[in-house]
Amino acid sequence: MKIFKNKKDVITYVDDLKSKKKTLGFVPTMGALHQGHASLIIKGLSQNDYIAVSIFVNPTQFDNHEDLVNYPRTLDSDVELLKTISEEKIIVYAPSVEDIYGDNVVSKSFNYDGLEHEMEGRFRDGHFDGVGTIVKRLFEIVRPDKAYFGEKDFQQLMIIKKLVVKHNIPVKVIGCKIHRAKDGLAMSSRNTRLKPEYRDAAPFIFKTLRTAKEKFGTKSANKVTEWVTIQFAKHDLLKLEYFIIADVDTLKTVKRKSNQKSYRAFIAVYADDIRLIDNIALN
Ligand code: PAJ
Repeated sequence: MKIFKNKKDVITYVDDLKSKKKTLGFVPTMGALHQGHASLIIKGLSQNDYIAVSIFVNPTQFDNHEDLVNYPRTLDSDVELLKTISEEKIIVYAPSVEDIYGDNVVSKSFNYDGLEHEMEGRFRDGHFDGVGTIVKRLFEIVRPDKAYFGEKDFQQLMIIKKLVVKHNIPVKVIGCKIHRAKDGLAMSSRNTRLKPEYRDAAPFIFKTLRTAKEKFGTKSANKVTEWVTIQFAKHDLLKLEYFIIADVDTLKTVKRKSNQKSYRAFIAVYADDIRLIDNIALN
């Protein structure tokens, strides 16, 4: 398996693939890889000759220093997991902060037509500027034909779709279904940091989303939101940060339901000091 630490080596390697007319898919990650990441890579392999996987904990997208410091970094086991998927067709790019940012670790400012002001943008200051900065830079280095992003971070997926249109980046952005543990908890690198009692409690998040979806069939968005808020108020361990039912195109909170529109429910919850997010399609 090819593992690159420097962008110039990636650029040379990709130049060679392109001269041989090979197609390249790309899965950007922050590592601590799990089956959710694997599902994106496997989908990418079915649609491209090669897949590049970047592993980089991007400092500029963290608004919480402790979260950045504590974010799991497990390159060796990440590479082992990737080898079980494919030794020959996966290229790993695991750069240092310096390789990406030089000595100027700051993000550029992006306009995503308002998508950035909702949900995660509201609760994580500067987060999507950091995401836009790193993903744009990675696209410029890797130059993939297609790039794969999980619906787990649905707002991020929408924002990346907006980014490539606004900046004329010739990449097809493909959304992939949320991969869940057997008990329904959406897989996340942060799950490994949950203490056992919190890990046991966490499937309550998806269970509540499923019931919210059922209720949305007959009740207003406000009523469903109230119901979810009460469920978490009664919960001993999990603290609700937000629950929002939003229009999938604008990500704005729904005021009045329309049959013409598609909606999704989005949730962010604290399990101890670990922040978990999830979402579900409602109609
Ligand atoms: P990370 O959290 O490592 O996720 C990398 C990709 O895997 C994202 O597209 C994310 O949505 C997807 N993913 C994570 N868990 C998933 C699951 N359970 N099911 C399906 N897909 C899942 O998202 C990031 O990293 C970063 O913001 C990044 C885009 C790499 C920029 O730094």
